[in-house]
Parts: sequence; C-alpha cells; structure tokens
Amino acid sequence: GAAELGPYRHYMQKEIFEQPRAIADTLDAVQSITPELFGDGAYSVFKDVEQVLILACGTSYYAGSTAKYWLESIAKIPTSVEIASEYRYRESVPHPRTLVVTITQSGETADTLAALKHARSLGMPHTLTVCNVATSAMVRECKLAYITRAGVEIGVASTKAFTTQLVGLFLLTLALAQVRGRLSDEEEAAHLKALRHLPVALQAVLALEPQVIAWAEDFARKENALFLGRGLHYPIALEGALKLKEISYIHAEAYPAGELKHGPLALVTDQMPVVTVAPNDTLLEKLKSNMQEVRARGGELYVFADADTRIESEPGVHVIRMPEHYGQLSPILHVVPLQLLAYHTACARGTDVDKPRNLAKSVTVE
Ligand code: G6P
Repeated sequence: GAAELGPYRHYMQKEIFEQPRAIADTLDAVQSITPELFGDGAYSVFKDVEQVLILACGTSYYAGSTAKYWLESIAKIPTSVEIASEYRYRESVPHPRTLVVTITQSGETADTLAALKHARSLGMPHTLTVCNVATSAMVRECKLAYITRAGVEIGVASTKAFTTQLVGLFLLTLALAQVRGRLSDEEEAAHLKALRHLPVALQAVLALEPQVIAWAEDFARKENALFLGRGLHYPIALEGALKLKEISYIHAEAYPAGELKHGPLALVTDQMPVVTVAPNDTLLEKLKSNMQEVRARGGELYVFADADTRIESEPGVHVIRMPEHYGQLSPILHVVPLQLLAYHTACARGTDVDKPRNLAKSVTVE
C-alpha cells in the first residue's frame, strides 16, 4: 500500500531507487571469487565446461545478452544466448560440455523452465540459474544457483532484478575466468573493488533524475523513438527500448549504432528522437560518427555520455553527463537513466506504470 511506497509515486520508481541497496545485498556474502559462490560442486562443473548457453525471456534475456560480452572477453568461453521460447522449439546441436545458464527474476517463467528441461533432455546436465527467488521452481531444477538479493519486485517492468542479475552474471564470468586460468589475483581484486563501489556510483547516476524528467516531457509527445548502443551497451539500448515501449506505449526500437545505415536511418527525421548510450569505450569514435549520420538527417539526439567522452550539447544534441567511464561494469550504470526515462515518460503520459496493459509480472503459462 501507500505506506510501503514512502516518498515514491510507484513501485517502479521505488525499485529503481533501491538498486544501490539491492546490489550491495547481492554482493554481501562475496568475500572473494570462488566457484562455490554458485553452490557445492561448482568447481568440477566449471572445470568440465567448454561453452555457455544462456536461456531467458524479456529483460532477463537482455541481462544474458550483456553477459555474453563479459564471458567471451574476460573468461574467453564461447557463449550463446537464446530466447527460451525459441530455443525449446528449434532443432539445435547440443554440446555435452555446456554450462546451461537460465536467468529469471521469478524462477517460474514457463518458457524458461521448459527450455531448461529441453536442454537437459538433449544431454546437457550442467545447469545453473541466476534467480531472485530462492524457493522457486527454477532453483529446485538447477544444480547450481546464484540467488540475487533484489528483494520482492512488484513493478511489471523489471529494474532492480535486471541490475542484480548483471552482478550475478559478472561474478559467474569471474569464477569461470578463474577456473580457466584467466584471472590473476590483481585482476580479481580490481574487479571486486569496482563491484563494491557500484552502490556509490549508482547514487550519482540516480541524482540525474531531474535532468531525465526534463527530457521525459519531450518524449511524452512522441510516438516513436530509436535507441542506439554499441558492443556491451547494445543490449542496454535494447533494454531501454523495451522499458519505454512496455510502460509508455511509445514504439521504440534499438539498434547497434553501426547498423543504422542498413535500415533505421530511413526512419530518422526531426520527429524521431534518438537516444544514444555513449560510454567512453573503444567504440566511442565510431559512435560519434554514427551520431553525425543522425544529425545530418535532422534527427534529434538524446545522449547519455560519460563525463570523459567530451560530447557536448549543441543544437539538436542534448547531453546528460554520466560519471567517468566505469569499464566492464558500465552497463549497470548506463541502464539506470534509461529506466528513469521510461518511467518519467510514462508518468507524463499518465499510463498505469506498475501494471501496464496486457502484461504480467510472471508468465507461468506458455
Ligand atoms: C515478464 C515480465 C518481465 C520479465 C519477463 C521474464 O515478461 O513482465 O519484466 O523480464 O517476464 O521474467 P523472469 O521472471 O523469467 O525474469
């Protein structure tokens, strides 16, 4: 009820602001990186596996899509990510030495549970879940688990579950890297330090809310939006577009920015806001030239730019400055203003934010 909401207007807003606490709780028991964070027997499973197959739906699928970049770049383990409802119904080529990873906030999503059983029936016995509900069907079904500590999530649009899933998946990446001889003690210490600093870094991002509210007034009058990201932040652009469409009912699409010229540039006019996720990573110069392509067609850019990118506001280019680049964990910071943008745009349009039309929190039927 209203008492539980405290100063917030909706559960979604409350849950966005709970992320520093949710991440701190999710990391609470982590003293060091060890396979046993994922349960007894994890070491021998991690030693045996040669690839990773991630299965999930919705926002959890985008967490998996982000983790693929980490798993391949840090742990050097081949990884594929599949939408659970597709995987379970297609013919695939199973590899017995696969770590099957399901990602699910609820642990009860029917398609994800069925995909897990399908993978097992194909002869892949190594199963692990990143899940927010310790008593769920998924945790019972999988041999290994990482339980995120987001706490109960009520808003249908997932927020704190997503960022805590990313934390769990980053820990999984580090544990696999360690078993595969790809993680020095110095690297482990540096990654742990960056993880532990996340709650503080997130507070600085949450403090951008008033700037995001100002943008939301513009977005509330639009019927379409394009989201761009590259690399590790392409799944974040996808998640930002999903958030906007599910709660504000604005049609939104996300593209990896390099793909603009192969289609979506045809949609760009002065009526098309283009949200750009701009971390200061190795793809920055490429991203800046993608932004020029949008400007040349009159598209209006709304850029979330790391402070060290030197991207400046100018006519047609609106910039909200993020903290300094946060390295591999940057997606966990960059998704937060996208959550806030969707939230405040929906509020400005007067939609039922916590219970968007036609959607359910947990989809336990096919
Ligand atoms: C529904 C929810 C989404 C969620 C998805 C997967 O569509 O509205 O927020 O991402 O299910 O749910 P899960 O519990 O498996 O993460």
